[in-house]
Amino acid sequence: MVLKRKGILLLGSTGSIGTQTLEVIRAFPDYFEVIGLVAGNNIDLLRKQIEEFNPKFAYCNQTDINIQLFDGTDCVYMPIESMVINPEVDLVVAATSGDVSVLHTLSAINSGIDIALANKETIVMLGNLLMDAVKNNAVTLLPIDSEPSAIWQCIRGEDNNISKLIITASGGSVRSIPLRYMKDLSPKEVLKHPNWSMGNKITVDSATMMNKVFEVIEAHWLFDVPFEKIDVVIHPESMIHSLVEFNDGSIKAQISNPDMRLPIQYALMYPDRKNNKFIKSFDPVNIGSLNFFNIDYERYPCFKLGLETAIKGGTWPAALSGADDIAVEYFLKRKINFLEIGSFISDILSSHKNIVNPNIDQILNAASSARERGRLLIR
Ligand SMILES: NC(=O)c1ccc[n+]([C@@H]2O[C@H](COP(=O)([O-])OP(=O)(O)OC[C@H]3O[C@@H](n4cnc5c(N)ncnc54)[C@H](OP(=O)(O)O)[C@@H]3O)[C@@H](O)[C@H]2O)c1
Repeated sequence: MVLKRKGILLLGSTGSIGTQTLEVIRAFPDYFEVIGLVAGNNIDLLRKQIEEFNPKFAYCNQTDINIQLFDGTDCVYMPIESMVINPEVDLVVAATSGDVSVLHTLSAINSGIDIALANKETIVMLGNLLMDAVKNNAVTLLPIDSEPSAIWQCIRGEDNNISKLIITASGGSVRSIPLRYMKDLSPKEVLKHPNWSMGNKITVDSATMMNKVFEVIEAHWLFDVPFEKIDVVIHPESMIHSLVEFNDGSIKAQISNPDMRLPIQYALMYPDRKNNKFIKSFDPVNIGSLNFFNIDYERYPCFKLGLETAIKGGTWPAALSGADDIAVEYFLKRKINFLEIGSFISDILSSHKNIVNPNIDQILNAASSARERGRLLIR
């Protein structure tokens, strides 16, 4: 019997998560069919992906290029908003950066399509609005981010007896840099992550630990665990991707080499687990020891600021996301130094007017107003 392959729409196909998602799909050609690809500006790579995966439709940001993009292929141009409601799509992989795909993800959910979510901004900004849409449309939200994926794998088969989530953090590229040198760090140095190869935004967020704030918010919404029951510890080896403590004191951890293809494959194939010969297995003897440390708040001021802001709810998380977006952009453009990222975000947030129980427009507006405020501050 020939089984129907799972139809995948990949948003952000040319990025770090996007290309690794295609590696997983390449490893299981009988399991997945690429229905659509969405990229931003990397037209050369998108063209290669279209030739290899032969999707039915694709999109890139530059409309004039779209015509040439499809010459000699069966693929046709389609706007993202039409792709995400196409009935041929079984699963949308949301792997664009920033808030590009927030509305598209929501449209897919409202059309009853399952989501494999890498883009943390979507859940950080929308919070309960996203979770309500998932529930009301009876769709499945499958986390790709390695820490939520780890928690998800640990609680699979358990009743809700969680006493604590422990999210691990690598500490990013600045983990062992003496504090006195931190303000002089160049974008190139901050972008050198010791364990993971990721897009620029998330790599800087990893160095400030704002990324961990976003993961705490993700875990809060995905697993319905209150903020006070979520801890974060520094784990430099990035082998344990998170831990769950249950009421009886027993702890489960998910362990693997730092390789995003594993959580991507778990989300795409869930609930199956198939051997992927390209993913190296974990060797405990070779690793030797695993270490854990408390967070040094002097080194990571953004973590405290971010968490205090996020737990206030309303439009605060969206404003935080927008403020962080523009702060990282200005750091990468060398308009602020690494240590100014936190104070810059704090200055932006000082003028935020919160809205309790916001609608989608108010959420998007909170993020774009924060970005605009950042631009004004720099001017
Ligand atoms: N990388 C990781 O290991 C990792 C782990 C966990 C979670 N995440 C999350 O996953 C998301 C993606 O991260 P990433 O590291 O893969 O980022 P990335 O490497 O910067 O890739 C971003 C992708 O989004 C596309 N894109 C950007 N703006 C677009 C637009 N306006 N329209 C259409 N496409 C657009 C880019 O296209 P072009 O390149 O063609 O311009 C690229 O394909 C982020 O939310 C991140 O926090 C990433």
